[in-house]
Amino acid sequence: MSKEEPAIPNSLLEALRTAQHLVVLTGAGISAESGIPTFRDAQTGLWAQYSAEELATPEAFQHHPRLVWDWYAWRRQMVAAAKPNAGHLALARLEHLVPTFTLITQNVDGLHAAAGSRAPIELHGNIMRVRCATEETRYTTWSEEGALPPPCPTCGAPLRPDVVWFGEQLPVIALERAWTAAATCDVMLSIGTSGLVEPAASLPRLAYNRGATVAVLNLDVTPHNEERLYLLNGQAGSLLPALVAALEQQG
Ligand code: OAD
Repeated sequence: MSKEEPAIPNSLLEALRTAQHLVVLTGAGISAESGIPTFRDAQTGLWAQYSAEELATPEAFQHHPRLVWDWYAWRRQMVAAAKPNAGHLALARLEHLVPTFTLITQNVDGLHAAAGSRAPIELHGNIMRVRCATEETRYTTWSEEGALPPPCPTCGAPLRPDVVWFGEQLPVIALERAWTAAATCDVMLSIGTSGLVEPAASLPRLAYNRGATVAVLNLDVTPHNEERLYLLNGQAGSLLPALVAALEQQG
């Protein structure tokens, strides 16, 4: 861990060590160290360079299907080349240290599963899948030859990325599971998310209001500790291995 990053507070480690149900919510920040751009970081964030309205809405796909398809194809290539980083790997270890563990991610890159996390709840879908824009049937393989977006093999409607766009509902079962986990956990870690997109943004607040200890691990927070609320400033890829190593040492 670098000098400027704080140690993990003992009281947080104690809360984690005694937790019955630990929930982890992740956002784009955890994948930044794998080379995948975040959305809102100044200069490097995707929404600093591209228009969400022109690329990540159902209307954009309706009016400019090829443009949207190509933008997601470009992001899919980046994801395919990326590897899980120390933060993802630490979380895969963390789930073995608590009785019940729920991982909720806003990321569509699949890197938690690639790191070995068993059952991440993907609130915003997965960029490595597509689905029929009409019937919703999902596919993990498709042809890039011929017209793009490719037509659905069953009905001929265009295939689209299986991700949630602005203005769309989140997958119902995933959201229900996330909500229940947040409402019933005793500790939640919120990692690498700006907390600006609902409903995911409300999950840490829900957990806190129900009495859970909440720790926020992010590059842009001012360090702060009070009872049941910890703001830890640093890179997920440094903070998480330190946190998990400390728990493993405590046995
Ligand atoms: P954002 O880009 O909004 O926020 C990323 C957060 O991660 C910022 O607060 C950064 O400071 C922090 N960060 C960056 N690098 C980090 C690192 N190495 N370690 C720790 N923190 C780091 O991304 P999200 O909050 O995930 O939705 O965005 C939420 C949703 O908005 C996304 O899922 C996406 C987007 O529009 C959809 O596409 C539906």
